[in-house]
Amino acid sequence: MFEKTELLPPDPILGLSKMFRDDPRENKIDLGVGVYRTPEGKTPIMTAVSEAQQLVVNKEVTKAYTPADGAPGFADNILKLVLGEDSAAYREGSCSAVQTPGGCGALRLAGELLARSGIEGLTVGSPTWANHIPLLSAAGINIHTVPYYDAAKSEIDFDAFVAGVRKLGPKDVLLLHGCCHNPTGADLSRDQIDQIIDIALDRGFLVFIDTAYHGFAKGLDEDAWIVRKMIKCLPEVLVSYSCSKNFGLYRERTGALILKGKTTERTKALHSQAISIARGIYSMPPAHGGAIVNEILSSDELTALWKQELDEMRSAVTDNRQNLVTAARSTRLGNRLDFIGEQYGMFSLLPISNDVVEKLRTEQGVYAVSGGRINVCGVNESNVGHLIGVLEKYMA
Ligand SMILES: Cc1ncc(COP(=O)(O)O)c(C=O)c1O
Repeated sequence: MFEKTELLPPDPILGLSKMFRDDPRENKIDLGVGVYRTPEGKTPIMTAVSEAQQLVVNKEVTKAYTPADGAPGFADNILKLVLGEDSAAYREGSCSAVQTPGGCGALRLAGELLARSGIEGLTVGSPTWANHIPLLSAAGINIHTVPYYDAAKSEIDFDAFVAGVRKLGPKDVLLLHGCCHNPTGADLSRDQIDQIIDIALDRGFLVFIDTAYHGFAKGLDEDAWIVRKMIKCLPEVLVSYSCSKNFGLYRERTGALILKGKTTERTKALHSQAISIARGIYSMPPAHGGAIVNEILSSDELTALWKQELDEMRSAVTDNRQNLVTAARSTRLGNRLDFIGEQYGMFSLLPISNDVVEKLRTEQGVYAVSGGRINVCGVNESNVGHLIGVLEKYMA
């Protein structure tokens, strides 16, 4: 049966982590995988998460199956968090959510739902997160790209993006990033989001927002603005949501797919489809992470603690960005890395070729993702000088 089965290369991002671990050089720097890290290089369990987990374990009396849409209470709490408890969308029940195995699970579930709904194609801005294309095309949908970011200028090419978006029609889907765009760190402004809404209303395409870094850009409410505005203005919206980064629940595989149909009846139909698709793939999501998130969001005290810890992660990421910019300014790089200080989340894209990415790794032990993506969490006080020295050598 499997004589001709090909051996595949490792995943480009996960494979990089292994290479980093196996690299014996002491001054190696990991700017690769998309995980939050403290200046000491740790990805700690958030205190709110450990406390909630203990409560979950203490209360748990069975390992029987959970309902098809996930851990009880999780979906409702995610809707409150994302839409805002006082929003009309939440109060009127125009949206529903199902728990999924991480943001990836939500993306894939949405992909299957879109394939079932007979879409013509899904359009992503280029570049986008490396896993978007395999995840969504595995659902059997055609993926198209439009330019999003001008890597040479280190800024969004909004004119080119809008020109592509204007060509979409009622059977198309546009995938947007909620905030902390991966891999560029360059988010659309509110004015640009409003323009996309006008075009979506005019052309009739569906907007699908991938939200994997809620709370990592400016704050929970600010970062949810794009989702809230789209849901308010557009008749139908899909949102994939990940709890991997903002709750630090990476390995618990916790996320959600949020669905908005034209009417409450249509939303219910979408919900039923999402559950039936999940049943055909993984039956139901793992309960543990969902139960932890539910425990946190159901308690004022744990929610306050979680928000404080999320704020701390966000400011650490912002500090790392500023440290890079400041260190670069005193070298021949001058203001060439200033754009990093104006972007959000863990990632920015260095304007370097893949040849240089390769040389940084092999000659200097600096691990960036192909395309030039760096995770600024890999920068700390003790390595920023060395890193900038290396970048000066290869970029200036
Ligand atoms: C843009 C984007 N979407 C979705 C995800 C998926 O997250 P998860 O680990 O929850 O599946 C990620 C994770 O890196 C991401 O960067």
